[in-house]
Amino acid sequence: MLISAQPALARCNSHDSRIRRGALVAGPEADQTLREEFNRWADAGKGESMEHDHWPIAKPTLGLMQIEPTDNIVDVGCGAGWLSRVLAKRVPQGRVVGMDISDEMIHHARRASVDLANLVFVVGEVNEIPWEANFFTRAISVESSYYWPDPAKGIREIYRVLHENGSAWILINYYRDNPYCHQWGEKLAVPTHLLSAAEWEKLFREAGFANVAHRLLPDPTPTPETYTGRWFRDAKELAAFRAIGALLVHGTK
Ligand SMILES: C[S@@+](CC[C@H](N)C(=O)[O-])C[C@H]1O[C@@H](n2cnc3c(N)ncnc32)[C@H](O)[C@@H]1O
Repeated sequence: MLISAQPALARCNSHDSRIRRGALVAGPEADQTLREEFNRWADAGKGESMEHDHWPIAKPTLGLMQIEPTDNIVDVGCGAGWLSRVLAKRVPQGRVVGMDISDEMIHHARRASVDLANLVFVVGEVNEIPWEANFFTRAISVESSYYWPDPAKGIREIYRVLHENGSAWILINYYRDNPYCHQWGEKLAVPTHLLSAAEWEKLFREAGFANVAHRLLPDPTPTPETYTGRWFRDAKELAAFRAIGALLVHGTK
């Protein structure tokens, strides 16, 4: 989600009339819809600009992940790869794989990452992560999981590719327990899942994860006096949204 800038969504709502909101049927059609939408975001430069909104919540998450220099990390729904690059620098003896359903996002990510030898980007869908089982010691996903057509399957796939004792960390700004984001569902051009923290935790447990927990990460970014975007009614609502913060759900294999 791109909170601060004017989104590409108004434009997309008109030409995506075949999308039935709430019709979250996983399969090739849903994948294609997501790919096309996020390719448009990539073309509009949103892959890069999301760093501004997501870093304030990703930064404390990295602190909690207790990353070791030897870790192998997968960044699911990596977008233009800014976070994958941060991670690659923190694991000089390990490897980072950034994965995204949007081939355009992956083009942007690769172009900006040629100097990092321990970082690769792959086009892929979370329901079928193109990697061997038991490989990664950490998995992270920032602001992606509520778009996944079948989040339960996506979380099971993350579990599959994690090594024993590996941990998964999923950050979500659009969730039921924060009332200030609920209106995003109507504004987005693709179907989304508005789940509660308890529901996300349940999906983790059902996938096999242990030590499942969640916490809220308030966003300390100062709120401007006036808000001109379309995600919130006004600056007061944006400030209230940030004060509650993002949902971080995590668990261990
Ligand atoms: C809001 S963007 C966030 C991108 C990035 N994590 C960031 O913080 O800048 C959501 C990303 O998730 C990707 N995505 C959505 N559904 C996906 C799926 N089913 N499998 C893999 N990636 C997906 C999109 O292509 C998009 O790049």
